[in-house]
Amino acid sequence: MKTVRTRSELNECLDKVDRSRLGFVPTMGALHAGHLSLVKRAKEECDTVVVSVFVNPTQFNDPKDLENYPRDERNDLIVLEKAGADIVFMPDVKEMYPEPDTRVFDFGQLDKVMEGATRPGHFNGVAQVVSKLFALVRPAKAFFGEKDFQQIAIVKAMCEGLDQSPQIVPCPIVREADGLAMSSRNALLTPEHRAAAPDIYRAMKAGVEKMGEMTPAEVEEFVTEKINSNPLLEVIYFKIVDALTMMQVENWKDSEAIQGCAAVRAGNVRLIDNIRFV
Ligand code: PAF
Repeated sequence: MKTVRTRSELNECLDKVDRSRLGFVPTMGALHAGHLSLVKRAKEECDTVVVSVFVNPTQFNDPKDLENYPRDERNDLIVLEKAGADIVFMPDVKEMYPEPDTRVFDFGQLDKVMEGATRPGHFNGVAQVVSKLFALVRPAKAFFGEKDFQQIAIVKAMCEGLDQSPQIVPCPIVREADGLAMSSRNALLTPEHRAAAPDIYRAMKAGVEKMGEMTPAEVEEFVTEKINSNPLLEVIYFKIVDALTMMQVENWKDSEAIQGCAAVRAGNVRLIDNIRFV
């Protein structure tokens, strides 16, 4: 495995690589089994796999959140080597943003709801960094975890505006044994909040069971109340949306694919998760 920190080192490494067989896994580090499942999938589908580790400041709307975001470069390199990554790109902020990125992306309604509505500017920052990374790596396929469900829709929409874009490969959420979706942020939970957090997935699963007897709006209320009944958790939103447009649905028959998406505050930590309804 080769670790590179600059664009020119990355170019040198990729010079002789067949880009039509190149896979890319963008990450912000503090890697867990969810990330490693993306590397595994990329290894299965591609000849060479690049993983980027970069905590992108432009996607954080809260400076405290950026400061507290977990970082563990040493362990990241150990687990990536074991997982069989070929190239790890670990740039610093100056390398990624030699000049401030002033681009503003237009995602229509896609970024006006859920994560976009509650973290202003977040998806613009994601699009800035992902478009830069795609331009540098030029992979055939890029692998993203479905825990960030809305992010995948944003990245797909962003790719429509690019000359050359990889195939976006969504990969299933990896969960802890108690159902909590794996996230780098889980490391920031207190033991009490860590014990409470699996209630998010439990409540969403109970919501799926209610589909036969409740409307989407009623299930939203049911799941929200169930999560909030744990005093250590506070729902920021739970929305039942069309899986492509991210718009709320009124009836179960309104869409061919329907997803329930949650953001929940557990102490100082903001967790997201989602579940398929239809
Ligand atoms: O999902 C993430 O970890 C980040 O949003 C990404 C895609 C690596 C961009 O910084």
